[in-house]
Amino acid sequence: MYQDFKLVEGRPAYVQVKEYLKRMIMKSVLQPHQKLPSTRELSELMSVSRNTIISAYLGLEEEGLVYTVKGKGSYIAQITASAAAPSWRLDWQERMNEQARMAEAMDLMKHGIRAERGTISFTSIAPNEKLFDLGNVKRAFLDRMAVEGEVLLNYGYAKGYKPLIDLLKQYMEQKGVDLAGKDLLITNGFTEGLDLVLSSLTKRSGAVICENPTHHTAIKNLRLHGYEITGIGMERDGIDLEQLEQALRRQSFDCAYLVPSYHNPTGIVMSPEKRLELMKLLTRYQVPVIEDGFNEELRYSGSHVSPLIAAVGQGNGVIYLGSFSKVLFPGLRVGWVLADQELIYYLESLKRARSIHTSTLDQSILYQYLLNGNLDKYLRKARTEYKRKYEWTKQCCEAYLPYNRLTGDGGLHLFVSFSEGADTRQLLEICKQRGVIFTPGDIFHTDGTGQHTMRLGFSRVSDEDIEAGIRIIGEAAREMFTQT
Ligand SMILES: Cc1ncc(COP(=O)(O)O)c(C=O)c1O
Repeated sequence: MYQDFKLVEGRPAYVQVKEYLKRMIMKSVLQPHQKLPSTRELSELMSVSRNTIISAYLGLEEEGLVYTVKGKGSYIAQITASAAAPSWRLDWQERMNEQARMAEAMDLMKHGIRAERGTISFTSIAPNEKLFDLGNVKRAFLDRMAVEGEVLLNYGYAKGYKPLIDLLKQYMEQKGVDLAGKDLLITNGFTEGLDLVLSSLTKRSGAVICENPTHHTAIKNLRLHGYEITGIGMERDGIDLEQLEQALRRQSFDCAYLVPSYHNPTGIVMSPEKRLELMKLLTRYQVPVIEDGFNEELRYSGSHVSPLIAAVGQGNGVIYLGSFSKVLFPGLRVGWVLADQELIYYLESLKRARSIHTSTLDQSILYQYLLNGNLDKYLRKARTEYKRKYEWTKQCCEAYLPYNRLTGDGGLHLFVSFSEGADTRQLLEICKQRGVIFTPGDIFHTDGTGQHTMRLGFSRVSDEDIEAGIRIIGEAAREMFTQT
C-alpha cells in the first residue's frame, strides 16, 4: 500500500493523494479507527511533499472520512450510510421502453461503421476544425464575460438569450423572411428544435412526408415520435413534385419535413421555381412545412436562394429550423426555430419543462462572435476551402467512380448512385479491408431502398486521402459492379 501511488501531471498533488486515500477507505482497505501514518512517514512512502499530505488529510477531514486526535494523529472515521445500504441489482434492459429500444437500435454511433486507425473515412460531414478561428471565439467569450459574466452564469430564459434572439431575427429578415406574426426560440441545435416541434403537434393522420433520401437524424426523430414516413423521390432540382402530388391525393399528412438547400444526403439545392410550385401545392393540400435550413450559407456558386419561409410572406404554415452546426461550430449547441408566434409560445413552455434553456454561455459566445463581425470573414475562408475540396472530390469521383449519378451543389458531401442492383454495403466491406470507409446510402432512405447509393463526406479528409480513397472505392466498385 501507499508505494503503488503514482502522481500524474496536470492535477494538484494533494487532490490525487486525497482521492487515493479515499479509494482505500471506500474499499475498506483502511478500516474505521485505523491510525494513518504520520504526515512525514506518508510523504516518504508516497514520494510527495509533507505539505501535500497535510492538505490531503485536511480535505479528508472536511469530508468526514478522517478525524484527528490531538497529539496522537489522524484516524479513519466510521462510515455508516454506505456500509448499511443493501446492494440490489436490477435488470435495466428489461425496463427499457419502446422509445429507448428504438433509439438504441437506430444509433449509428453504436451500430454503424467502425474505422480502424489509419482508415480514410468519408463518413463525417462535420466541419473541419482546422478552419475554426479559435482566437475570435476566445475573444468573443472574454468580451461577453467582461460585460455580463455573472448574468451568463445564472439561469437564463427558456426562449433564449435576448440579444441573440434579436440578432437572429435580423439575420432571418436579411434572408427575406417577413417577421410579422412570427417569433423565434433558441434550441440545442436543429435536432432539439425538431424534437420540440414534433412533441408539440397533435397527431391527426400520424403521417409525415419528406424527401427520399433524407437526413438520418430526422428519420430517427420522426420514428421515435411514432410517425409513419412517406418519402418522395428527388430530381436534379429537388423533390419530385408529381410524385408529391400523387401522395397528397392519396392520403393526408400532418406535416412535411424538407431540406431545400444542400439537402442531406444528396447535396441538391431546390430551384427557386420548384420552391414556389412546392409551396403552392402544400398550401393547396394544407400541409405545414418543417423547413431545415442548416446549410444555406455553404453555397459555392450560383445566386442566393431564399428559404421556403421567405416565400410564404406573412403566411404561417412554415416552421423554419436553423443551425450553425455546419456553417460554424457544432460544439456550440445553438439552433433556432422561427415560426408563428402562437406556436413559439407553446414551444417555449415545452422547452422550459424539458431542459429549462439552452446554455446561455454557448448562446452568448455565438452572439458576441457574430456581433464582432466574424461570420462573414470566417465564411469567406471556409467557403473557399470547402469549395476547393468539393471540386477536388467531384473531380476524383468523375475520374475513378463508375457512377450513374453524382449530386451535390455545395455543402460538405457528395452523393453517389451506382447502377440499380449494386450493393454499397458489400462494397463497403471490401473497401474497409482496403482502408477506406463511407456511408452507405440505404440509411438515408425512408423505404428500405438506396442500396446502390453512398454519401461521401469530404470536409475532414486531406486532398491526398480524397484521391487515394476514391480511387480504392472506384477499383472495388468496378470489380464488383461490372459483374452485376
Ligand atoms: C440535414 C441536417 N440538418 C441539420 C443538421 C444540424 O443539426 P444540429 O444543429 O442539431 O447539429 C445536420 C447535421 O448534419 C443535417 O445534416
